[in-house]
Amino acid sequence: MVLKKEANERLCRVGQDTPMGDLMRRYWHPIAPIARLDENPVRKVRILGEDLVLFRDRSYKLGLIGNRCAHRNTGMQFGIPEPEGLRCFYHGWLYNSEGQCLDTPLEPRDSTFKDRVRMTAYPVEELGGLVWAYLGPAPAPLLPRWDILVWPNAIRQIGVSILPCNWLQCQENALDPSHGVYLHGHFFHYTLERLGLLEERAADKTTHRSYVGARPDPFALEFQLSDHGIRKFQKYSKALGSKTDAVREAKYMLFPNATIGAEGGIRSESQFRVPMDDTHTYHITYQVYRGPEGVEAPRQDVVPWFKVPVTDEKGEPILDYVLAQDMAAWWTQGEMTDRSHEKLGTTDSGVIMFRRLLDQQIKVAQGGGDPMNVVRDPEMNDIIHLTPPEREDLHVREGAYRSQYHKGYWMDDADRYGSAIDKVQEFMQRIEEFSMARTPRRDGGFD
Ligand code: FES
Ligand SMILES: [Fe+2]
Repeated sequence: MVLKKEANERLCRVGQDTPMGDLMRRYWHPIAPIARLDENPVRKVRILGEDLVLFRDRSYKLGLIGNRCAHRNTGMQFGIPEPEGLRCFYHGWLYNSEGQCLDTPLEPRDSTFKDRVRMTAYPVEELGGLVWAYLGPAPAPLLPRWDILVWPNAIRQIGVSILPCNWLQCQENALDPSHGVYLHGHFFHYTLERLGLLEERAADKTTHRSYVGARPDPFALEFQLSDHGIRKFQKYSKALGSKTDAVREAKYMLFPNATIGAEGGIRSESQFRVPMDDTHTYHITYQVYRGPEGVEAPRQDVVPWFKVPVTDEKGEPILDYVLAQDMAAWWTQGEMTDRSHEKLGTTDSGVIMFRRLLDQQIKVAQGGGDPMNVVRDPEMNDIIHLTPPEREDLHVREGAYRSQYHKGYWMDDADRYGSAIDKVQEFMQRIEEFSMARTPRRDGGFD
């Protein structure tokens, strides 16, 4: 499924009245960590080609309105939060979260002018430490309560970066599990070699070592369409040259622009690829570390956020952690990559499946239906399990927590930049001690 220019743009472009723009507008998108509003309650944001201002007023109500004042176009990013709404800093016009003008203080006292002034406004809600926005047609669907966002007994941190490329390049990576051997194996190894860090970073069971020993062809890929996206399996077999026959599930593609960590991990990382416009992506790594029953997670009043760096202070690319390697693979494909000359191989079957699914869901939206993952049933939305509850603590039960804990991902991945990482390590240690002290029963439970 090589995409000619027109078909490619159909899947990439997200502006108003474009097929993909219309599909994307059917979903709630995370636009900022809520912690950013503690630093400054008024922030400029760009999403789906629109420049907007996110604010929290003095009653703690969130709002997302146009970035230019309806009076004479001054930027609302310097607006003053009021008990109700945001006041323009030029002549003081006040707007509430619905975009309605409530006050024009320099106009005559009895003026009703304000009643006829309104600006763009979109619904916003907070969930899981993120602010989510809905830019689509009314009535807005429910903000889905994916399990990762609402799991209790967990500690979280949120990493963000702005990438100079189209969202689809990032998301196609979610259908491409075979890249690990090279990008996070051989290339990781080569990067550490160049930096003179091979010895230091090889001390533990680090990512590049677990990948680099693998041959590029020990597994067959299988992709399955599921309720919420596409599941991916790597099937190892002796026939293909693997040591054992085994099936491993890789990250789950959550339609249309996210990924969810594999089942049962103590560390569960999701990524959201939010289109800012056709050539920029707001990339979020959402990191959740869960404890089993009996090990209490550290308390968090607010989920901390951090910048995921792409370059160092000299402007040189940083490449010695997993997400940086992925991001470099995406932005080096170009601002909006030309897919008309691709040479797709057998490992690209997931990418092809995803492009077809996008095309199909665009048609669903165009036909007036709700595309995949638009949620309207409140009963279903109490918590939406992406990992079946009985498999949530799989790694603890099977003892695989050890490989997670000792894997060294706080060195190997973006987690290392997060301010909660010390607490995470301490938490992991307690989980390990707890698990070691218990004997697994045959049925997988604990005595
Ligand atoms: S430009 Fe905003 S009040 Fe005048
Ligand atoms: Fe990757």
